[in-house]
Amino acid sequence: MNSQERIKQLLNFREKARKGGGEKRIEDQHSKGKLTARERITILLDEGSFEEFDMFVTHRTEDFGLADKKFLSDGVITGHGTIDGRVVYVFAQDFTVFGGSLSETFAQKICKIMDQAMQVGAPVIGINDSGGARIQEGVRSLAGYAEIFERNIQASGVIPQISAIFGPCAGGAVYSPALTDFIIMSEKSSYMFVTGPKVAKTVTGEDITIDDLGGAHMHSTKSGVAHFTVEEEKEGLDLIRKLLSFMPQNNLEEPPQIECDDPIDRMEDDLNEIIPENANQPYDVKEVIQRVVDNADFVEVHEAYAKNIVICFARFDGMPVGIIANQPAYLAGVLDIEASRKAARFVRFCDAFNIPLVTFVDVPGFLPGSVQEYGGIIIHGAKLMYAYGEANVPKITITLRKSYGGAHCVMSSKQLRGDLNLAWPTAEIAVMGPQGAIEVLEGKSISEISDPKLRMEYTLKKEDEYRTRFANPYEAAKYGYLDDVIEPRNTRFRIIRALRTLSTKKDPGPMKKHGNIPL
Ligand code: HXC
Repeated sequence: MNSQERIKQLLNFREKARKGGGEKRIEDQHSKGKLTARERITILLDEGSFEEFDMFVTHRTEDFGLADKKFLSDGVITGHGTIDGRVVYVFAQDFTVFGGSLSETFAQKICKIMDQAMQVGAPVIGINDSGGARIQEGVRSLAGYAEIFERNIQASGVIPQISAIFGPCAGGAVYSPALTDFIIMSEKSSYMFVTGPKVAKTVTGEDITIDDLGGAHMHSTKSGVAHFTVEEEKEGLDLIRKLLSFMPQNNLEEPPQIECDDPIDRMEDDLNEIIPENANQPYDVKEVIQRVVDNADFVEVHEAYAKNIVICFARFDGMPVGIIANQPAYLAGVLDIEASRKAARFVRFCDAFNIPLVTFVDVPGFLPGSVQEYGGIIIHGAKLMYAYGEANVPKITITLRKSYGGAHCVMSSKQLRGDLNLAWPTAEIAVMGPQGAIEVLEGKSISEISDPKLRMEYTLKKEDEYRTRFANPYEAAKYGYLDDVIEPRNTRFRIIRALRTLSTKKDPGPMKKHGNIPL
């Protein structure tokens, strides 16, 4: 073969590899409303930036008639490229080849880019669309999965890892995405479960559809496995680009700061009136967030799960932050099992990647009752406490209204090494709310008053006394538990000034192998 023929051969190989499992299977993929692996990578990365690895890899299985059934790339496209000019590593499972199922060589391809991503210090994005372990390969496939899991674990907290689920993701395969930082699911075409509906029916007798068992809606509202859902794959790929814009490349870098055209001293007069006169009336904490962050722009994580706490990425003066806010508009902003788990994981992500935390507090306490106690609210609440207490990024806390009991301590209090703890004049920081307190302190005296009118008057009077004495920010400020009480309209400026001041903060904490977070 002369050199021209050799080049032609190369181009033919490339052309063949790009066809994946062939035209017919690509058509099938499109007919399901799904893009191919290569189309997904093209949309995700900056134009022309993709550098592909291992296009010529094929599987090594001879059994089950596979000796003659080989496809270049073997069902997964891997390599690196850039997003907004920053390097990322990517793999996209190709459903057109053996249903995207994972072989030994397929796993080796993923491991190769994960290893290099760790050395380079760049994020890994995995696009999942696979029938799971390649059945013909048996234990070699299982070993391949475990190789990937181990790398997910080693990379956790070192480089950001994001998973998109754009097709099936079942069996043990779910654990690679589960070990990553964020999971995005497409609404119509994806599902994740450890065992499918047929096995569920055989083992437990339960009749359930694929969607109800593991669809995007279920995982974003009930299990909390999915952080985001998207209608179209393109929306999911754009979301990955946006999410990365808040993150550093790795744990040794600072998150990227951008130019900000929103005035840092923008006063928001509305905030002076946003808290209702009646302490039991709700308001939407997202309106507070919108008014204080740059250009009212924030990306909410877990929007449909545990709505009683809001978590999101946003920027102040171009600096990325993670925001955690109790949501009085949903279950009065109470802390329960789901809210605690949701916020704890987010706090740890931000802390691992040097993203400062801004916390807005309006919490009536932990949700009481047997459901919560049987579910282990003690342990789950402790997770959030641990996450905040352990975090050593800049921590800024603004108490808007209620901050009662254990929930007060948990929500980035001064004693959990909060760097700047501010409160609005409407804040009520106390062991418990006036009603509960008076019931405990005066219950006996109240029950001894037989006239209902006098009883009510006495109760209200006592509650009022308690409110004046304890349910305000000044009691906490008196002890230095709050650094200042501020006018709500000035909140944006105060947060920005604190972030600038704290940008050189160093607080490494004691040396240890790792703590023992209450899991
Ligand atoms: C080998 C597979 C495969 C697999 C699909 N294919 N899954 N080949 N191993 N796991 C092949 C099919 O044989 C078919 O090839 C082609 O991919 C497309 O699959 P279809 O079934 O035609 O597609 P569809 O109707 O869309 O159904 C998709 C599916 C189904 C729901 C994913 O293929 C399926 O149930 N697959 C098996 C899923 C499974 O049980 N996986 C193992 C899970 S256990 P041809 O040539 O016929 O078109 C596991 C353990 C991991 O993963 C443990 C990790 C620790």
